[in-house]
Amino acid sequence: MSIKKTIKKLIPNLLLRFLVKILNWIRLRKFYALKKPQIKKNNLASINEINLDYILKNEEILDTWKSWQDKLSSFNFIDFKGGVNPGDQRAIFYLIRYFKPKAVLEIGTHIGASTVNIASAMNYNQIDPLTKKIFKTIDIRDVNSIKKKPWLNYGMTKSPVEMIKELNVSYVDFVEDISINYLKKTSNTFDFIFLDGDHTPSTVYQEIPLALDKLNKGGVILLHDYFPNGKPLWSNNYVVEGPYLATERLINEIEIDILPLGNLPWKTKMESNKTSLALCLKK
Ligand SMILES: C[S@@+](CC[C@H](N)C(=O)[O-])C[C@H]1O[C@@H](n2cnc3c(N)ncnc32)[C@H](O)[C@@H]1O
Repeated sequence: MSIKKTIKKLIPNLLLRFLVKILNWIRLRKFYALKKPQIKKNNLASINEINLDYILKNEEILDTWKSWQDKLSSFNFIDFKGGVNPGDQRAIFYLIRYFKPKAVLEIGTHIGASTVNIASAMNYNQIDPLTKKIFKTIDIRDVNSIKKKPWLNYGMTKSPVEMIKELNVSYVDFVEDISINYLKKTSNTFDFIFLDGDHTPSTVYQEIPLALDKLNKGGVILLHDYFPNGKPLWSNNYVVEGPYLATERLINEIEIDILPLGNLPWKTKMESNKTSLALCLKK
């Protein structure tokens, strides 16, 4: 039985809700106590340059998305837990195909649902042959651990690294680290940064300024679990507050803005087209 399930069994519901409330209150206190970040540079693409309709309805990208389907379905992302949903996987693929980043950073590898789509989209992108493609994917856990095989607990038959090997690409590096530590110490810079790790307000509030410091000119940051106005997107009433709270504060402090992807031209989850993906861009 998982730790979550054991705790749920042992602690009465009312007490559990009270404890969660206290935990959230502590989290928020920690978040509001953080100092305003000092930004050295802001290389983000401008929000005025982005036309989501153009990106998501692009016929050329659609052709490559179609030709990737046989391989993608062979990985059996069917009854999986915790990875980005199939509609979001498609949106991420389209964004990578459109922006054509040479260097990508992903925070939060987990089962590799986003990882394989990013790696594949990068493979279709034609770039200057002298430039090396880079894709670093970071997780606080060893997502490819041979001993623990964590992917089996989340409904996958292959580890992220096994799936990447099948794509025959040489540019993907799996890194086990805490996002903030990695962002502080890496000497790499990136054109596209996907933040899908720890979604607490404090972490996202620190990750974005650090990500800005590692971003190349015209780069973008993509957020997952961004719930506009901190409100549920789906009928399950589920909300992850962190990315919204962190960015609301940052919007008032530094020159960024958020462009939620909103309704995609295809299904995401719970029979809807809604997505929690959002681009962080220059105001
Ligand atoms: C929602 S999952 C990511 C899903 C993944 N993008 C996919 O599509 O399969 C979040 C992941 O972030 C990792 N994580 C949580 N906090 C982190 C941190 N501070 N630094 C790096 N990774 C973190 C977790 O271990 C987990 O695997």
